[in-house]
Amino acid sequence: MRVVTKTEVADGVVALSLADPEGRRLPDWAPGSHVDLVLPDGLTRQYSLCGDRWDAHTYRIGVLREADGRGASQFVHDRLRVGDLVGVGAPRNSFPLVPSSSYLFVASGIGITPLLPMIQQADLLGADWRLLYSGRRKASMAFLDELSAYGERVRLHPRDECGPLVLERFLGEPRGGVKVYCCGPVRLLDAIEAACADWPRHALHIERFVAVQAGPPALEGPFEVELTRTGRTVTVTPDVSVLDAVRGAGADVLSSCGQGLCGTCETEVVEGVPDHRDSLLDDVGRAANDCMYVCVSRSCTPRLVLDL
Ligand code: FES
Repeated sequence: MRVVTKTEVADGVVALSLADPEGRRLPDWAPGSHVDLVLPDGLTRQYSLCGDRWDAHTYRIGVLREADGRGASQFVHDRLRVGDLVGVGAPRNSFPLVPSSSYLFVASGIGITPLLPMIQQADLLGADWRLLYSGRRKASMAFLDELSAYGERVRLHPRDECGPLVLERFLGEPRGGVKVYCCGPVRLLDAIEAACADWPRHALHIERFVAVQAGPPALEGPFEVELTRTGRTVTVTPDVSVLDAVRGAGADVLSSCGQGLCGTCETEVVEGVPDHRDSLLDDVGRAANDCMYVCVSRSCTPRLVLDL
């Protein structure tokens, strides 16, 4: 796709709008979706789509400059120009907006990006919703002009003016029928998980940009993975990922982040119990025992059978 506009939307944040060079229609997407951005120097990173989902010809993403990142954000900020071509993967959604008549949205920093289209949808559908949006200071908080159109539904919380966030004050008492959506740094996600501990199961939906620290693997030694489509069985040793092992056996599995964050390597589980080490599946998804992210997840059982 071609970079159509590049706009500074806050200190350290640029928004890129991207379009097909021939003006063709882009694949549809829904709030919560992200795409792989493949930069001219070969770096690939995932970014949430944060534009108007009804605009069939333009995607928009927001990119925070990360001083200690792996180089992609610096490239976007310093070297990527309007008119440049970049690779953009098909939208994928591991953070879908579940239908509800009432939402509480909580974002911090660049975590506002996946929530913008959710808010637009909730508002269009007439849902009752509120947003708590926190940042280090107002100048670092992106898209404030767009959010100002929603008036009192949006509560801004620049921490240099308002102090630390008290989530419980915003969330109120635990109650049914309300969906809580949160995106931001690990500290915020951990805090909201704690704050929602007494809320009904499945009320809280979060998206992580940084992988959770998984504990030690369930099995210390090797385990076997059988590939149903080829009938081959491979041994996965402790120093090799399931992804690398099955690729070594000829399975064609796509991957992107390699950290259990993006969902690209999702693989169907036919038999066995995966040791889920991703940052995508919630308790229900894990208990279903029907899929795993093979870039990071391993096995609880000596044998796994995968639909590969
Ligand atoms: S490659 Fe991103 S979750 Fe596995």
